[in-house]
Amino acid sequence: MPSNLSPTALVTGGNRGIGLEVARQLAMRGCKVFLGVRRIPEGQRAIEDLIGLGLHAEVLEMDVTNEESVLAAAQGLASSTGSLDVLVNNAAILIDEGRTILDLDSMTLHRTLETNVAGPLRLIQACLPHLGKGARIINISSGGGQLSSPSDWSPAYCISKTALNAVTVQMALALKSRGIVVNAACPGWVRTDMGGSAAPRSAQEGAAGIVWLALDAPASLTGGFFRDGIPIPW
Ligand SMILES: NC(=O)c1ccc[n+]([C@@H]2O[C@H](COP(=O)([O-])OP(=O)(O)OC[C@H]3O[C@@H](n4cnc5c(N)ncnc54)[C@H](OP(=O)(O)O)[C@@H]3O)[C@@H](O)[C@H]2O)c1
Repeated sequence: MPSNLSPTALVTGGNRGIGLEVARQLAMRGCKVFLGVRRIPEGQRAIEDLIGLGLHAEVLEMDVTNEESVLAAAQGLASSTGSLDVLVNNAAILIDEGRTILDLDSMTLHRTLETNVAGPLRLIQACLPHLGKGARIINISSGGGQLSSPSDWSPAYCISKTALNAVTVQMALALKSRGIVVNAACPGWVRTDMGGSAAPRSAQEGAAGIVWLALDAPASLTGGFFRDGIPIPW
């Protein structure tokens, strides 16, 4: 658990799917949770039940592809809380399902990398002034990004998650001396808008390993890739 008794956490893509469930579980564990969302009214509706339970949840407008939006959100968070203990880079897109690398167009690749790789990178950089010793960053990756058992069902998405894993390792190295840990988590195949209704896992199951990295994993654990709290190969 981060040293702060009531850690502040920011979860991107918090209005639905795995992000909303991670936010819910963190709030239930006593965190002050901020959900990065593209549309405030939708985000506000998503957290109504959490607020009803007396939990601390707030929405923060943020499009991870927009530098100004990310900087403004990081600034807004800092002025309302002062510091950040947990950052979950969850927002992502999957827009090339069923395509192959042979007909992948550069615009689809660019859009995917912009959201799934550059988004987390720019948000980490924007939050750095507010992340102190003991802070934890979790990048939500996917088994699709594993080079050890390659997938070809959505090439742009898989490439983006491989690249996000590389960002994770680089950030872990860069932030080790500051006592900030950075890990990647795969939630498994989860029933969400992205995962579809045939997926075997619930959002609760997918979120649990992410929350473990955020609050329960040993404080020294950094630069790894995990599913359900168990290391998996890159
Ligand atoms: N579901 C699975 O089976 C599965 C498996 C492995 C990994 N993952 C990973 O788990 C994470 C969550 O997936 P999910 O299944 O919950 O996906 P989802 O249901 O499609 O939700 C994606 C979230 O990302 C947000 N988002 C997309 N682009 C954004 C942007 N430019 N700025 C801010 N927010 C943005 C969406 O917001 P809007 O509502 O505004 O679009 C939404 O909140 C992703 O990183 C995904 O790659 C999922």
